Amino acid sequence: MQLSGKIVVVTGAAQGIGRALCERFHAEGAAKVIAADLNIDGAAETADRVGGSAFACDVSQADEVAAMVEKVQADVGVIDLYASNAGVLARDPDFKDASSASEEDWARSWGVNVMGHVHAVRALLPAWRERREGYFLATVSAAGLLSQVGSATYSTTKHAALGFCEHLAITHKDDGIKVSALCPQGVDTAMARGADARTPALLDGLLSLETVAESVVQGLAAEQFLILPHPQVAQYMLNKATNYDRWLGGMVKLRRATGW
Ligand SMILES: NC(=O)c1ccc[n+]([C@@H]2O[C@H](COP(=O)([O-])OP(=O)(O)OC[C@H]3O[C@@H](n4cnc5c(N)ncnc54)[C@H](O)[C@@H]3O)[C@@H](O)[C@H]2O)c1
Repeated sequence: MQLSGKIVVVTGAAQGIGRALCERFHAEGAAKVIAADLNIDGAAETADRVGGSAFACDVSQADEVAAMVEKVQADVGVIDLYASNAGVLARDPDFKDASSASEEDWARSWGVNVMGHVHAVRALLPAWRERREGYFLATVSAAGLLSQVGSATYSTTKHAALGFCEHLAITHKDDGIKVSALCPQGVDTAMARGADARTPALLDGLLSLETVAESVVQGLAAEQFLILPHPQVAQYMLNKATNYDRWLGGMVKLRRATGW
């Protein structure tokens, strides 16, 4: 997909990767960029930067997502690209207990990191199937392919998000619907900066927002499912697939090295 002339919605657009995607899509010539976020002030600032519009939307709430998609379609037109980027990271309260996350953290992580995508697709599919065209970009994480030491909720919900993206791609290929899953390791945003420096996912360094946005534009142009701004993640996946037990052993060593 080329972004020029496209109608684009980005969620989690008040800051971080979402804002960077809005700016880059605008620079690529998108006709209209809609910045959606829980944080309406941040979304409005992003929208100002790209001559777009802002939307207050909690992606974990099906009715809010449906209302946003309906309004954009009525006021602007059918959405060409929906960048489902909003996500939350809740760390395990006790790093030595994989079951220590609260019910609230599980519910919020599931609601945003998984159902945020499902609610969006439910709202988008009717128009996309009718038009036989539509592009769904989900910001998942390398944690959805590998793991996230220190967060059971993040590891689990990002795996589930990737599972949904695969299912979407398989089910709707013949409807003309395209899907990409963006799976970076550490990116220089508030989410990563709030992490303990010993977090294994940060060992390969934090990528700049510009690098991630470039990787997304290239991935969309190639219409490839998996977008890996850290190319080494492909090798880690290969290691996992080739010898799961050895890969798990390596992850255990990484966890031990944190001293948690
Ligand atoms: N930063 C990283 O290292 C990294 C790595 C891999 C994947 N990711 C993923 O990238 C995405 C963006 O993360 P980021 O690093 O820019 O984080 P961030 O915390 O800087 O930004 C996340 C944005 O999502 C918004 N948001 C949170 N819950 C929401 C909800 N329910 N509805 C609407 N908006 C909501 C927040 O208000 C915020 O503006 C997330 O899905 C995250 O899991 C981040």
